[in-house]
Parts: sequence; structure tokens; C-alpha cells
Amino acid sequence: MKKAAITGIGRYLPENVVTNDMFAKIIDTSDEWITSRTGIKERRISVSENNSVLALNAAKAALQNASVSAEEIDLIIVATMTPDAYFPSTAALVQGQLGAKNATAFDISAACSGFVFALNTATQMIRTGQHKKALVIGSEMVSKLLDWKDRSTCVLFGDGAGAVVLESADEDGVIYSVTGTDGSRPELLLSWALPISNPFGEREEKSRFIQMDGREVFKFATRVIPEIIDNILATNNLTINDIAHIVPHQANYRIIESAAERFNISTDRFYMNLDKCGNTSAASIPIALAEMSDKGLLKKGEYIIIAGFGGGLTWGGSLIRWTK
Ligand code: ACO
Repeated sequence: MKKAAITGIGRYLPENVVTNDMFAKIIDTSDEWITSRTGIKERRISVSENNSVLALNAAKAALQNASVSAEEIDLIIVATMTPDAYFPSTAALVQGQLGAKNATAFDISAACSGFVFALNTATQMIRTGQHKKALVIGSEMVSKLLDWKDRSTCVLFGDGAGAVVLESADEDGVIYSVTGTDGSRPELLLSWALPISNPFGEREEKSRFIQMDGREVFKFATRVIPEIIDNILATNNLTINDIAHIVPHQANYRIIESAAERFNISTDRFYMNLDKCGNTSAASIPIALAEMSDKGLLKKGEYIIIAGFGGGLTWGGSLIRWTK
């Protein structure tokens, strides 16, 4: 069996910054409420670039970081729940714009867990030997799905993209992944696509905006993040002290704090940038990893755990050894 390792990483955030105080001017909220309940201070909201452009720019940054050309890439997977179009896939749009003519490309939909699902899929496709160099991208414009009058959801999310280059390697970089789904409670977190329509009846009307039962999602997240970490540690005979960084999905500071308490470790062990980015769904983990790489926080040989959760409900995590 071949091995797969991350050899490049990049991110792209749209320019437009929206602060909590800006929200307080258009809805009944405050910087104090948003900061104390979530840890979010500001987020990026794209006003001109569509999702595929965010993904493309993150992909270019990752390719440059890996010193790999677009022609060398033979697989592109984009994790997104906010594509430009139902079809073609965002991955196909990125492939075309990049000129990655040797790559097969498709999207994965697993909401905020999407990047973990995509990384796992690409890793398995490289392990079989069928693919050698992949781009794995998490890219979202959650702003498209937000009702700007719904204060319980619109302040939580942001737009952005992160990408990694994953290559066939001698050393194991993505060592182990676990993913899961519970489709029995979709209403806890969802956004409808096109409604049923037929030429002889009325078109069913459904809101496309994100609907969320915040309290139930909070309970789900605080349960599942420790479960993911426990699973990864037990399966790989590691303890929490063997892990240099835990990079969780960036949804809420209090969710991460609860996981830190559960393992009796400092929140410093969990990387967080949600104060600046908000919840960027499938993009949050690769954006955080790219930021850590830029800051020199990722050291060769160290173990990192990534852990995501989201609509579906879905969840997943990976054990990564940084080999770059
Ligand atoms: N500003 C001011 N007040 C607000 C706001 C706001 N932005 N939003 C809600 N409130 C009010 C509510 O209306 C409610 O008022 P009421 O008591 O008069 O009815 C009050 O605050 C408390 O509301 P709760 O929903 O109980 O607040 P809670 O403490 O649970 O915090 C939050 C809400 C932050 C959403 C929390 O439940 C949470 O973080 N849940 C997890 C959400 C999450 O992580 N989602 C992303 C999942 S990933 C994906 O796949 C998309």
C-alpha cells in the first residue's frame, strides 16, 4: 500500500471584513453578545468573488507552497456546501481555471466536516496507487445561505478557502481518518436546495437559508469532538500528550473550550482563528492549517489531529504527521 502526505498548503480569504459592530447596525445584536457566546469578532464576506474563485486562489497558493505545477495534479476534490452551480462541480471549475488538464475533479458534500471527508477520500485514492498528486480544497461562501435578518445564524459564518497538496510519499503523512454520519436528524442544521416542481402543480416554496437548532448542534459538537479524538488516540496507541496541535472546526470558542476541559488540557493546544474568520464550514480546518504553517507552528515529525462536525449530521477527524 502506498502512503500519502501533505506537501503544500495555502489559503485565500476574500478582502471584505464584516465586524460584529457592523452587524449591530443592521440587526438587534452586539459585539458583546457575539463575542461572549461564540468568540467571533469578525468574518470575511465575499462581495464579488464566487466560491470557485476562492477555491482557485487557495489551490494556487498550495501548489506554489508544494512547488508542484497544475499539470502534475491528477486529482482535485473540493469540499463545499455552497458551490457556484449545481453543475459543473466547483472542482471542475477550479480544474479548468488552473489548467490542471490531467486531473479528474469532483466535489464532496459533508457540510462543515467536508474537508476531513475529502482528505480521507483523496488519501485512500492515493494509497491504491491510482492517483499520485491531489489537490484537496475546502471552500465556502456560506454568506449565500444566510438570512441577514436572522441574528441567531447570520453572525456565525464567514467565507474563505483552504487547500492542501497531497502526494504519494514514502512517509505516512495522513495516517488515519475516522468519519461518521447520523442522517436521522437533518433538521438540526440544514439549507434546502431547489424544491419539488412538476408542470401540473404548484412549485413547493422552501427557504434556502440556513436553519439551525443552535443548542442541539452545540450538544452534538461537544459530544462528538472528544469522541473523534478518543478514537484517533486509541486506534493509534497515542495519548493526548503525543499531539502537538489539535485543529478543530472553527464554530464556537465554547465548543473548543469544552473539549479542552474534557481532556484536561489548555485551550492553547487547540488552534483557533474563529475570532477573525467566523465559521467557514468546510474551509475552516485547511484555512487554520495554512495559517499555522505561515506562522511556523507546524514542525516536521509532529502529530496533529484535525476534527470536524457539521450538518448531516456529519463528523470526522484525521491523524496527520507533518512531513514537510
Ligand atoms: N445577538 C443577540 N442575541 C441573540 C443572537 C445574537 N446574534 N442570537 C440569538 N440571540 C438571542 C436569542 O434570540 C435568545 O433570546 P431569547 O432568550 O430572548 O429567546 C438568546 O439569545 C439565547 O439564544 P440561544 O440560542 O439559547 O443562545 P445560545 O447560548 O445557545 O448561543 C449559539 C447560540 C451561539 C448559536 C450556540 O447555540 C452555538 O454556538 N451552537 C452551535 C452552533 C454551531 O456550531 N453551528 C455550526 C455547525 S457547523 C455546520 O455544518 C454549518
